[in-house]
Amino acid sequence: MLKKIYFGTNLKMYKTIKETKVFLDTLTDLTKDMNREDFELFVIPSYTSLPDAVKIENRGLVHLGAQNMGWEDEGQFTGEISPVMLKELALDLVMIGHSERRHVFGETDERENWKVLAARRHGFTALLCVGETGEEKENNISDEVLRTQLKVGFKDVPAERAFDGDTPKIWVAYEPVWAIGVGGKPASAEYAETKHQVIRDCLVELFGARGEELPVLYGGSVNPQNAEELIVRRNIDGLFVGRSAWDAEKFNDLIRLARKKAGR
Ligand code: 13P
Repeated sequence: MLKKIYFGTNLKMYKTIKETKVFLDTLTDLTKDMNREDFELFVIPSYTSLPDAVKIENRGLVHLGAQNMGWEDEGQFTGEISPVMLKELALDLVMIGHSERRHVFGETDERENWKVLAARRHGFTALLCVGETGEEKENNISDEVLRTQLKVGFKDVPAERAFDGDTPKIWVAYEPVWAIGVGGKPASAEYAETKHQVIRDCLVELFGARGEELPVLYGGSVNPQNAEELIVRRNIDGLFVGRSAWDAEKFNDLIRLARKKAGR
């Protein structure tokens, strides 16, 4: 069987409920001819958009996720959204440790771990984002940073919890902080592949040989110019896109371009 390739977008703090719905309807309609057996499409909208997002007509064609999650089922945690609440929406995945959560909101590896454990306890796919800052890259400690984020982030997750049958329930996004968002500089495909190899080796260390099967996605200024060279790298299983995906037509074009290059 062909290895799956993954394309997803994080809508960050953009798009109203109505705009999100239009985006999802358009994207699922444009991509409905693509065989989902070797292709996963996912979208991570704002919390307020989720109740309408899960009701779209083509719900089966897209995985939907939340951008963050509290780690307790309930309690005195003002402003947090719990796994139980997200479960009511029948979401597929939860993103944990996005660079903006870590660097704007001060989240720690330990807390990301609590969220990963809570996500898996409740059956969600946990999409853990990791990545070094520009300063850490300058100081030549990127590999150490990535390994720390993975080893602490996945602490106490047993190998069998990383899968549901054959389906990987742990996904990793490599998102170098210096590459993300406005002013970000995309990582070269060569550089990204070396870091994906570090991540892959660490996943095998943590989860055994099946660590090879866990998807590792690249994110950080993915655009139509670099998508093809990134997707063909051995350890890059998918692309996690921000700005270049927020127009459904453009995202569809990018996906088609990259899929074609990957021989799909
Ligand atoms: P950009 O593609 O806009 O750099 O954002 C990437 C990202 O943060 C995805 O989570």
